[in-house]
Amino acid sequence: MEQEYIFISGASKGLGKALTERLLARPTAKIFAFSRNPGDVEQELLTAHPEWQGRVQFGKGDAGNQEDVTRLVAEATTFFGERPNKIILNAGMFAFDDELDVKKKEEMQQLNVESNKIIINEIRGNDKEKPLHILFISSIGALAEEAEKPFEHTTVYGKTKAQVDAYLKELATTNDHIRVALSYPGPFGDSAKKLRDKFGDTWAVPTELVAARSAVLLESLNMKKIAEEIIVSEKHFSIENNFFDLQELAKKHIALTEISESESEHLIKKDEPNNEIRNGIK
Ligand SMILES: NC(=O)c1ccc[n+]([C@@H]2O[C@H](COP(=O)([O-])OP(=O)(O)OC[C@H]3O[C@@H](n4cnc5c(N)ncnc54)[C@H](OP(=O)(O)O)[C@@H]3O)[C@@H](O)[C@H]2O)c1
Repeated sequence: MEQEYIFISGASKGLGKALTERLLARPTAKIFAFSRNPGDVEQELLTAHPEWQGRVQFGKGDAGNQEDVTRLVAEATTFFGERPNKIILNAGMFAFDDELDVKKKEEMQQLNVESNKIIINEIRGNDKEKPLHILFISSIGALAEEAEKPFEHTTVYGKTKAQVDAYLKELATTNDHIRVALSYPGPFGDSAKKLRDKFGDTWAVPTELVAARSAVLLESLNMKKIAEEIIVSEKHFSIENNFFDLQELAKKHIALTEISESESEHLIKKDEPNNEIRNGIK
């Protein structure tokens, strides 16, 4: 099997870290991961898995900063002995519309949109013929935006993700050597807790499951040019049963994975009475 030289953004915690661990289980994968403050996550992984020695390296830098990305891609290239052939665009920030002042909006645009273009351009360099598989962690909010049913309190966030979806599809369509996977998760991890704190009960997908499905989606690029998958709890859209038009999804070749209630996490608002045991995750 071909060696996978994977460059992943935002991997010190959350989905990025879970994906890094999941992908290292593949003997073909070598990973260069980074975030602004990786701390000792590399050491932590290697202590738990000494067999990953030499197959994972963490760098430090800001995905939205051109100089940092240039340096990080150079570090990854030295580590791999060649340029990365797979990119996971994971770093992103989530915020409600009412939390965004002008400065924070710019920050979100820079990270959620521009950083991904910077990374792709830097990795492609002058070698536009090199085969490249790209996995982007988009969001269910982007599909809501694209379906003209934007989520009311996170429209800015949804728009940033939708911009990258469109950019990547165009890139794959116009370049023979580029294949693109778009993962559309519903709430998970810390952002699901933010939703719970604002709106009350929230159904989330365990981060590990989002990582597992997204890793399979990346692998599916061995067979496909563009792959898309929604990963949500079956309970998440229970109030809006018609949110997904299944025929429309099938027409667009977007897979829908609904995680069963028993495998989902039920996050309950902290200040509800009688929830002492079920505070946080049930
Ligand atoms: N959580 C959800 O409910 C949800 C749903 C749909 C889509 N998503 C998307 O999934 C992705 C991962 O989300 P998550 O919830 O796992 O995020 P998270 O827990 O907040 O982790 C974000 C990671 O990105 C890094 N990061 C943040 N800003 C960065 C920057 N400027 N440059 C480099 N690294 C940076 C963070 O590390 P440092 O602080 O060390 O930089 C951290 O490792 C995001 O793109 C998010 O939009 C999330």
